[in-house]
Amino acid sequence: IRHLLSGADLDAPTATLILDTAAQMATVAGREVKKLPALRGRTVVNLFYEDSTRTRISFEAAAKRLSADVINFSAKGSSVAKGESLKDTALTLQAMGADAVVVRHPASGAPHRLANWVDGSVVNAGDGTHEHPTQALLDAYTMRSRLGRLAGLHVAVVGDVLHSRVARSNVLLLSTLGAKVTLVGPPTLIPVDIAQALAPGTDVCYDLDAVLPQADVVMMLRVQRERMSDSYFPSAREYARRYGLDGPRMRRLPEHAIVMHPGPMNRGMEITPEVADSPRSTIVEQVTNGVSVRMAVLYLLLGGNNS
Ligand code: CP
Repeated sequence: IRHLLSGADLDAPTATLILDTAAQMATVAGREVKKLPALRGRTVVNLFYEDSTRTRISFEAAAKRLSADVINFSAKGSSVAKGESLKDTALTLQAMGADAVVVRHPASGAPHRLANWVDGSVVNAGDGTHEHPTQALLDAYTMRSRLGRLAGLHVAVVGDVLHSRVARSNVLLLSTLGAKVTLVGPPTLIPVDIAQALAPGTDVCYDLDAVLPQADVVMMLRVQRERMSDSYFPSAREYARRYGLDGPRMRRLPEHAIVMHPGPMNRGMEITPEVADSPRSTIVEQVTNGVSVRMAVLYLLLGGNNS
């Protein structure tokens, strides 16, 4: 594939190739080998129109560990503040010889538009409430490395599904790889039609306590208050009581089950510190795995040393 814009771009063999390549890259990310020369002479641009900690740093670390040149572009402080369009920004990056553009944008679909304007590869690092495919890949990698497989796993994705690009990309990728997904949350935050359109067979349940004993993985989502009007926002206490993962709820999970969260977390709302910092939590591991997975994505998209 030339671009990575959506979880739907990945069939099972391609997704598996990325995960297997990431496992090889992990020796580099794990510092046994510090750097690979694979992308020497190639330029990766991080084009971020929205805030990010994990994704931006992770792509930068991944590109550098493959010896690429990295240009970090933040909309804040750039000519975007003077009204420059995404297209003109893209053409400027193109003129500077970007081989890959990693883009985060508040508008759903922005990476797809960008892909029409640049010759290099475009990687979607999160677009609005739409998709975040490399997050889904690092989540799948983490599940596979902790539980040994993806096919047949039961994954509960819990919380603010409505505003979650992480949920959308996970539903697409996990169903491609043979896992079963149940979306859990308040009815106002779960668009049933979208869930089923994304991946037929995806279940919806409004009762977290009923789902937990059957789950191999519980993936908590951040409540995205910034995307909700005040009248729409559930009270934090009520939300935590019904859909927050706390110690007693975690103990309803099967012994082997893991707890995930893409970050950033609202500690005390969708997840308590006891759970987030417990041995079942893979939250820090997800960040580590993100570097290997993004190395694999950049390596495969840019074709290693074959320019
Ligand atoms: N998980 C994730 O996308 O985090 P950031 O917003 O910090 O990049």
